[in-house]
Amino acid sequence: MAEIKRERWGTRAGFILAAIGSAVGLGNMWRFPYLTAEYGGASFVFLYIVLLFLIGLPVMTAELTLGRGSRRSPVQALSQKGEQSWHWLGYLFVLTGFGILSYYSVIAGWTVRYMLDSLTGILMEVNTGEYFNSISEGQDALIYHLLFMAITTGIVLGGVRKGIERSVKLLIPTLFFLTFGLAIWAFYQPGSMEGYRFYLAPNWKNLLETYTLGGSSFSFLNLNMLAAAAGQTFFTLSLGMGAIITYASYLSEEEDLFGETLIISFSNFSISFIAGLMIFPIIFSTNLIDEIGDSTIGTLFVTLPEAFQKIGGWWGTILSFFFFFCLMLAALTSAISLLEVVTSTLIDEFNISRKNAAAGSGLAIFLGGVPAALSIGWLDLADRISGQFLLMVGGFFLTIYIGWVMKSALDELRRGMKFNAIPLWLFLIRYIVPPALLALLLTIGWELPEKIFNFLTGS
Ligand code: TRP
Repeated sequence: MAEIKRERWGTRAGFILAAIGSAVGLGNMWRFPYLTAEYGGASFVFLYIVLLFLIGLPVMTAELTLGRGSRRSPVQALSQKGEQSWHWLGYLFVLTGFGILSYYSVIAGWTVRYMLDSLTGILMEVNTGEYFNSISEGQDALIYHLLFMAITTGIVLGGVRKGIERSVKLLIPTLFFLTFGLAIWAFYQPGSMEGYRFYLAPNWKNLLETYTLGGSSFSFLNLNMLAAAAGQTFFTLSLGMGAIITYASYLSEEEDLFGETLIISFSNFSISFIAGLMIFPIIFSTNLIDEIGDSTIGTLFVTLPEAFQKIGGWWGTILSFFFFFCLMLAALTSAISLLEVVTSTLIDEFNISRKNAAAGSGLAIFLGGVPAALSIGWLDLADRISGQFLLMVGGFFLTIYIGWVMKSALDELRRGMKFNAIPLWLFLIRYIVPPALLALLLTIGWELPEKIFNFLTGS
């Protein structure tokens, strides 16, 4: 294998910003609130936080270690020094990235649509539930999906560094403060307390589920909910498909990988948490609970415009535009990281130009996303397959590889290390993460074929 000279990040902040840009996106603003609503509120949030520590942080460190240690795109990172048999995992990453981006771009397309309809004033007048239903699937959704994929592809065509670092620096704080401001506004709305109760006061019974086995029934942790919480830590931190590995491959040796893990994860968590503080009081103070009802997938998109309408006037319009503009940019920096994995793999593997690799995969992903743009049911299913199941499969094998196979992992981790968290990390990565993921994978893997079948047969 030829030694390839890789670009490095301009600055340490450059890497952190890009990783945060990858992590912060629709996962925080759209996916986290929607899952929290679906699984009944605070108990889900609690599980998510627990799993963030037990699974999210150690896996993030693991990906940073592999990426920096190999300085290669995931497929090649996994096929070094006689450890050839792990090559296929890199291809799984590419497949997962392909799967996620294909529907992620559809949702990002909704944000573009919301942004434009804020400007024209349409969004200030509609019934938000009906509006969401009308734009979230079909021809309109398809057009905005195309537009968003074209922008993403255009940026990845241009190379790694340019643009990403710069845009994130301004964007993430703006998004943060906008959300924060709206959360404060929501606090003063009548009925908001109900929302905080739902979001922050766990109903512990919610964590349990009744199962029947051989005629007798018993209560146990709700495994589906656990799997959803674990899946969310992967999704929101961009883990399980090589995005962080790819970015870390441009990272320099002086960095403390545990420290980077904490910074990235904490920033990302704050944004999700504040998104919840914004959304749930609004839901309860505007009585949207019924509207959101069975399919919680539109939670963000149905709730927020309602708030902007209530604020009303110029302020409502301006805030609405800026919010969706920032959200669209946040989705863009995440989408870039997904496409970057697919592209850099094609470049490294097949020796084709960046231009062809990016354009080819961008087009293929657009086509792959057509069904999700035409049917929100399919989008939901695609999210469960790629955004949850495949990420966890990737994460499972990755932790086995790094915890048990990769010989240089600990040396790599020690480079630049400021505090020694290795014993704790190694314990989690070896003995906690793989069995936990395996159990959850079996649980959801069991039901996935049935879900797909039901979807396809329309029942
Ligand atoms: N983390 C991003 C978000 O929350 C989405 C994303 C970007 C992602 N890259 C990823 C998810 C890689 C999984 C894997 O919006």
